[in-house]
Amino acid sequence: MAVPIQQKSTGARALQAWFNPLKRSAGFLAFVLMRVTGIGLVIYLLLHMVVIGNLLRGPEGWDALVATMKSPAVLVLDVILIAGILIHMLNGIRVTIIGLGFGTSSHKGIFWTLMAVAALLLAYSGWLVFTK
Ligand code: HEM
Repeated sequence: MAVPIQQKSTGARALQAWFNPLKRSAGFLAFVLMRVTGIGLVIYLLLHMVVIGNLLRGPEGWDALVATMKSPAVLVLDVILIAGILIHMLNGIRVTIIGLGFGTSSHKGIFWTLMAVAALLLAYSGWLVFTK
C-alpha cells in the first residue's frame, strides 16, 4: 500500500515534490525546459565533434556516415534537436529581455506565446526534415 506523503521523511517528500508535474507554474516549466535543453545542447555539441571526427576516415567513412544520418531514426533525433534549439533560443531571448527589466508583468504570456511560436516552427522544420 502507498505511504501517505505526510508520513514520509522530509527527504522523500522533497524528492517526490521534485518529480511531481502537477500544480507547476509557467516559471518552473520555463526553468526546467531551459536546463534540460541547455544540458542537451552541450551533450549534442560534444557528440557533434565526435561525429565530425569521422572526416579523418576519408571520403568512404564520410559517405557511410551521411547514409546513417539519412535514416529515419536519426531524422527523428534531428527533430528533437531542433525542438531543443527552438525552446532554448526563444526562452533564452525571453529570459534576457525580462532580465533587462522589460515585460516583467507579462512574462507568463510572453513564455506561452514564444512556446507557441516554437511549436509552429518545429512543425514546419519537421515537415522539411522528412520531405526535403
Ligand atoms: C540563441 C542561442 C541561445 C540563447 C539565446 C541562450 C540563452 C540562454 C540564457 C538566457 C540562459 C540563462 C537562463 C537562466 O538563467 O534562466 C542560458 C542558459 C544555458 N544555456 Fe543557453 N542560449 C543559447 C544557446 C545555447 C547553446 C548553443 C548551448 C549549448 C551548447 C547552451 C547551453 C546553455 C546551458 C547549459 C545553460 C544553463 C541552463 C540552466 O542553468 O538552467 N545555450 N542560455
